[in-house]
Amino acid sequence: MIILGIDTSCDETSVAVLNDLQPLSNVISTQVKQHRKFGGVVPFLAQRLHRERINQVTELALRQAKVNWNDLDYLAVTYGPGLAPALEVGLEFAKQQSLQHGTALIGVNHMWGHFASVQVGGKQTIQYPALGVLISGGHSEIIFAKSFGEAQIVGQTLDDALGEAYDKAAVMLGLSYPGGKVLAKLAKAGDPLTYQLPIPMQRSGDLNLSYSGLKNAMRLLVLEFGENGPKEAEVKDLSATFQAVANQSLCLKLERAFQHFPEVKSLVVGGGVAANQDLRQRVRTIAREYGVEIMFPPSIKLCTDNAAMIAATAKLALDSGMKSGHSAKLDRVPYLTVEDGPIK
Ligand code: KG4
Ligand code: ZN
Repeated sequence: MIILGIDTSCDETSVAVLNDLQPLSNVISTQVKQHRKFGGVVPFLAQRLHRERINQVTELALRQAKVNWNDLDYLAVTYGPGLAPALEVGLEFAKQQSLQHGTALIGVNHMWGHFASVQVGGKQTIQYPALGVLISGGHSEIIFAKSFGEAQIVGQTLDDALGEAYDKAAVMLGLSYPGGKVLAKLAKAGDPLTYQLPIPMQRSGDLNLSYSGLKNAMRLLVLEFGENGPKEAEVKDLSATFQAVANQSLCLKLERAFQHFPEVKSLVVGGGVAANQDLRQRVRTIAREYGVEIMFPPSIKLCTDNAAMIAATAKLALDSGMKSGHSAKLDRVPYLTVEDGPIK
C-alpha cells in the first residue's frame, strides 16, 4: 500500500511517501529561520510559507520516492491539532490533489502521528495496552492506549508544553530559537547539581504536568547573574540544571503512571523532546525497572514534525479496520486530541 502523507500543522512543510511502513521519502522544509526573529511561530507567516512551498515539497517527495500520483493508494493529511492557518494549507492542497487525481483522502490526527512515529520503518511494533508520552513544542501528555485508535489522556500539562519550557529557558540563557536542542547540547558539558531549581508537581497526586513554576524559578535564578547575565560556563551549568529538573518532573509522573497501569506492555515516547538524550536515559531506566518495552522514534528526524508519521498513522488505522470517509467535508480541527481517534 502506497500512502502520501502531508503535514503543515506548525512550522514545517512536510510530505512523505510510505510503502506500508517503509519510508520511500520524507521531505521536511523547515521555517525555523523565518520565525526566529519573532521568538516563536507566527501563524500567518507560517501559512504564507506553507503556501509557497507545498507544491515543491510534494514534487520532491514523489520524485525521491520514484512514484507518481497514479501509484498512490491514499493521501493522508493532518487535519489537527495545530495552528489553524497552517493546517488549512495542507488540507486545501490535499483536497485539491485528491479531486484532481482521484486519490482517496484520509484526515490524520497529528498526535496519533507522534505515537505512530515509532513504527515508521517497521522495526518496532507497539504492544497493547501501551502508555504514550507525547512531548513536543505544543503538547505534553501521557496517554493510555488500549489498542491503536483507542486512547485516553491520563495526564497533561496544565500550562506550558515541555518543549515550550525548554525553548523559553533557552531564551533566558540567550540561546537561539528554538533552543531546546541547543540547551540540551550545552547541558552535556554542565553540572546539573550546581544550582537548585524546584521539581514541579512532585506532590500532586495525579499524572498532570506543569512547567510554568519551573520557568519562573529559572527566570529568577538567571536574574541573579545581573545585567551581563551568566558566563559561558555558568550557562552550561544552568542548562544542565534546568534539563535535569524538567526531565525528572516528567519521569516522576511516568513512574506513577506505571504504578497506575501495571498491565502496560509498551511505552512509546514521541515528539520533539523525545530527541533529548538525558530524557531517553532516564526513561529507559524506569521502563527497565517496570519491565516495560520502550520505543522511541527510530531517528531524530522522526521525533520532530514530519509527514512519514502521518502516512504511518493512516496505514496503522486502516490495518486496524478503521474507515475514513468525508473527504470533501474534511475540515481543520485546531484543538483535536488523541481521544478523537487517529483518522477521519
Ligand atoms: O514535535 P515538534 O517538532 O513540534 C511540535 O509538534 O510542537 O517539537 C519541537 C520541540 C521544540 O520545542 C524543541 O525545542 C524541542 O521539541 N526539542 C528538544 C530537543 N530537540 C527538539 N527539546 C529538548 N531537547 C532536545 N534535544
Ligand atoms: Zn508535533
